[in-house]
Amino acid sequence: MQLAQKEKLQLTQKETLLLKDLKEQEQICVEKYSKYSSEAHDKQLKDLFAQIGQTEQQHLDTINQILNGNVPSMQSGQSKKVQLNFTPTYDTVSSDQNKQLDNYLCTDVLSTEKHVSSVYNTSVFEFKNTDVRSALNHIQKEEQEHGEQIYNYMAQNGMYN
Ligand SMILES: [Fe+2]
Ligand SMILES: [Fe+2]
Repeated sequence: MQLAQKEKLQLTQKETLLLKDLKEQEQICVEKYSKYSSEAHDKQLKDLFAQIGQTEQQHLDTINQILNGNVPSMQSGQSKKVQLNFTPTYDTVSSDQNKQLDNYLCTDVLSTEKHVSSVYNTSVFEFKNTDVRSALNHIQKEEQEHGEQIYNYMAQNGMYN
C-alpha cells in the first residue's frame, strides 16, 4: 500500500517570517506555562497551566512542521474537552497573598493569550495554502479557549472585577 505523499510547501519569505514569529510566541508560551505551573499556589491553577502548556507544545510542533515545509494534517472531529468550571479555591472577597500572586500569573497569561491570538489572526490572511490557513485558524481557536479558561478561573475565584 502506498501512502499519498503530499508535496512540500514552498513558503514565501513573508510566510517564513510570520512562522518564525509564531514559533517564538509559542516557545514563550511553553516556557511561561511551565514556569507558572510551578509558581502557582492553587493546585487547580497549577494543573490548568500544565495542561495549557501541553497544548502550546503541540502548537509549537505544528508551526515547526509547517516551517519544514510539511502540510499540516488536521485531525477532524477531534474535539478536546475544555474545562470551564472550577471549584473556587479562594474566597471571593479575600485578598490574601497567595490569591494575589495567582491573580498576577493569570492576568499575565491572559494578556499573552490575547496577543498571541491577534498574531494568528493577522498571519492567517497571509498564507496561500488552505491547509496551513486551517491549521493556523485551529490554533487561534485554541488560544481563545485558553483565554476563556483563564477568564473563568479568575471570575470563579473573585479575581475578575
Ligand atoms: Fe499556542
Ligand atoms: Fe495559548
